[in-house]
Amino acid sequence: MLIEVREAEPGDAGRVADIHAACFAKAWSKLDIERMLLAETNSSWVLTRNGDICAFAILMWAGDDVEILTIATALEWKRCGYAKQLLCACDNAFKNNSDEAARRWLLEVAVDNLPAIALYESLGFEQIAKRRNYYRREDGVNVDAFVFSAKIGNLGC
Ligand SMILES: CC(C)(COP(=O)(O)OP(=O)(O)OC[C@H]1O[C@@H](n2cnc3c(N)ncnc32)[C@H](O)[C@@H]1OP(=O)(O)O)[C@@H](O)C(=O)NCCC(=O)NCCS
Repeated sequence: MLIEVREAEPGDAGRVADIHAACFAKAWSKLDIERMLLAETNSSWVLTRNGDICAFAILMWAGDDVEILTIATALEWKRCGYAKQLLCACDNAFKNNSDEAARRWLLEVAVDNLPAIALYESLGFEQIAKRRNYYRREDGVNVDAFVFSAKIGNLGC
């Protein structure tokens, strides 16, 4: 079994869109994902197992921050440590890239998304703010979000 983390390519958009659709109520289209993978401000990564994509993360550069726009693991590969491995590989890549100015990880997560909160806390992210009514669900219910951050190069990997 070969596990690899690599930067995403436009050709990955179909599989990434399928994983996204299985994980989120509001699915992004393959075209939306393709645009995100191509955006110059973004940095997108996939974790592959014997060449097949099991997890992905789409990150956005914003000054000194790298914001996690989305991260997901395919249903059949959850709790295998893949999301953690993916973020750790990105953390290492950014730490070792002296050309990039990023210093801080940043993300928003719905307060009731317990698996994601557990993932971030297991990596040492800390809650720095709470945003009221940040997400609007399909049923019209608003949900608060926590803002988490961590120092780049310092995740508990
Ligand atoms: C959140 C998510 C990306 C985690 O992916 P994953 O590959 O299953 O996570 P990992 O296997 O790397 O988990 C690493 C650690 O996170 C924590 N964790 C992950 N999922 C968890 C769960 N369901 N319950 C409790 N802790 C969990 C654990 O500490 C775990 O370590 P352990 O398995 O040794 O206990 C995945 O559940 C997912 O795709 N969710 C839907 C999309 C989503 O909500 N993304 C986040 C948006 S902010």
